[in-house]
Amino acid sequence: MYIFKKISLEPFALNDFKLKKNSLLGEAKVPGDKSMSQRAVIIGLASIGQTVIKGILDSEDVYYTLKAAEALGAKVDINKNKKTLTIKGVGLGNFKSPKKPIYMGNSGTGTRLLIGLVAGSNATVTFYGDESLSNRPMDRIINPLKKMGANFVFSEEKKLPITVIGARKKGITMPIKYKSPVASAQIKSAIIFAGLTARGATEIQEPNKSRNYTEVMLKKCGVEINSKISKKYINTVTVNGTSYLKNCSFNIPSDPSSALFIVVACLITKGSKVKVKNILYDNMRLKVFKILTKMGGMIKINKTSIDTCEITARYSVLKNINLHKNETTALIDEFPALSIAAACGKGKMIMRGLGELRYKESDRFKSISEGLRDAGVQVNTFNDDMEIIGTRKVLGGNTIFAQNDHRIAMSFNLLSLFSEKPIRVIGNESIMTSFPDFFSTLKLLKKWIR
Ligand code: S3P
Repeated sequence: MYIFKKISLEPFALNDFKLKKNSLLGEAKVPGDKSMSQRAVIIGLASIGQTVIKGILDSEDVYYTLKAAEALGAKVDINKNKKTLTIKGVGLGNFKSPKKPIYMGNSGTGTRLLIGLVAGSNATVTFYGDESLSNRPMDRIINPLKKMGANFVFSEEKKLPITVIGARKKGITMPIKYKSPVASAQIKSAIIFAGLTARGATEIQEPNKSRNYTEVMLKKCGVEINSKISKKYINTVTVNGTSYLKNCSFNIPSDPSSALFIVVACLITKGSKVKVKNILYDNMRLKVFKILTKMGGMIKINKTSIDTCEITARYSVLKNINLHKNETTALIDEFPALSIAAACGKGKMIMRGLGELRYKESDRFKSISEGLRDAGVQVNTFNDDMEIIGTRKVLGGNTIFAQNDHRIAMSFNLLSLFSEKPIRVIGNESIMTSFPDFFSTLKLLKKWIR
């Protein structure tokens, strides 16, 4: 049971193959943006008064973040008919210290952002997660948050379970200047959330601009937060501490990263034409569609409002290209689906600087390269770079273990639409974290042709 409805997943991967010869036609509904949904809940918890959220992603990751917000003191009211959530927050820095550890499932964003928020509070909270989340690095946030005065209890590996003892338990939150070695919205956001209770300005520098929803959404709540990008692409964000967040409401458009799976399915399946509506209009997140267009993908993006667009795609024979390592940050979640498109394209796809992929829900560098090789696609790897040699004849017939990684599961299910033999995906349940209706959405598009 998630936020609005009970979600169950069909045992699918092999069944899907039977629909292979049908084109995908029609309009697909894509769920709410995951990054914004998680932030809306966390900001709701940290505000005083009521935050109304429309268009929230109804999935496992958001569900666990919402449960965590309740455990920390937020009151949540769910209107199933209107599909809105109302969160009554507790304000900054005064969370409940729950007696029991908080389970975060698979959600890296929910966990890292909440650890940041709790780090600037007077609460003591223990977080734990599933096998995948328990293997993801947390030192990247622990190190700066310690400098801000928070304390932590963790294993030698600095991974979950982690107990956070907020900086205001015994002292104050210190504003810091921090240079992050990686461009990461999660690191940046954890520091920003902690910095909200600091007296003075906290500054975070990242080597490339990562997604900026924390900045944009907090600004809407009255926080003084600014960013600037240098000629060398270094992004510097400055946030001033504040005593409260002005409560505001959020209307969340559909997730471009989830839309990508529908678009790639369409691009690789003969005779397909698909439209996705109400997609978040954000240059960074739409970059992948521009890359696919450069590869010869017939894709149109129509802006429909200040922050939404609709995307139409048609079946296309893709020609692979070279990607520069500076493009990695904007494509960070898109490499699994993009790699499937490249495998079905013509020529060599070169993708550079993919080191961060090793720290996602699974080691995606490994899952992508090994999964494609097992399906009969030539993949060459050199340190953090990968070359995929596109083939118009993907053999398939292999088994993929999704390893709790929704994007790996969805991507290799897509490859079955193109491969000669179906690919068996073990671990489709992971898709519940971001796109619970993934299979039924594809199935519905198949039915349109009959
Ligand atoms: C996210 C940030 C990204 C991305 C994740 C969502 C966010 O991680 O991979 O799926 O909402 O902040 P990093 O920016 O840490 O690489």
